Amino acid sequence: MPLSKPMQEALNDQIREEFTAFYLYLSMSAHCEASNFPGFARWLRSQALEEQGHALRIFDYVQDRGGTVALQAIPQPAHQWPALLALFEQARDHERKVTASIHRLYEIAAAEKDYGSHAFLEWFLTEQIEEEKTSTQMVDTLRMAGDHPGALLMLDREAGARTAAEEGGGAE
Ligand SMILES: [Fe+2]
Ligand SMILES: [Fe+2]
Repeated sequence: MPLSKPMQEALNDQIREEFTAFYLYLSMSAHCEASNFPGFARWLRSQALEEQGHALRIFDYVQDRGGTVALQAIPQPAHQWPALLALFEQARDHERKVTASIHRLYEIAAAEKDYGSHAFLEWFLTEQIEEEKTSTQMVDTLRMAGDHPGALLMLDREAGARTAAEEGGGAE
């Protein structure tokens, strides 16, 4: 069964959302690198690539279903943040927004009786639970660190080491 028009449009919108997240995380990574937080920079860059992966997952799905991919413009992300806490608060808020848009996709799939899309979206629902959890933890630990340089440096090192372990490689 081909994708319905509303479903196809909503999936194309979601591709844009995922690339928007990709761009935002990449911009945040550049900011952290420039602010001497290489660990957070690495973590954010790896997040960016995950978002790119999400976009491509939907990109492939639309095509697998015989639909048309129509890429949209990606909004320009911020490139400066007053503090790490503000940066990670924005990341968390963005993840919440993405969760809401996945929920909207789910509702459209239900309205269209598109059970294939339902199954496809399951993965994203689970992924968003993880994404919201991780970004909320970042915000909470940064709030505890306040503006103590020692604590921030320690968290930076930790974020870098965690990313290295997840990527399966050692520190570069
Ligand atoms: Fe995503
Ligand atoms: Fe995400």
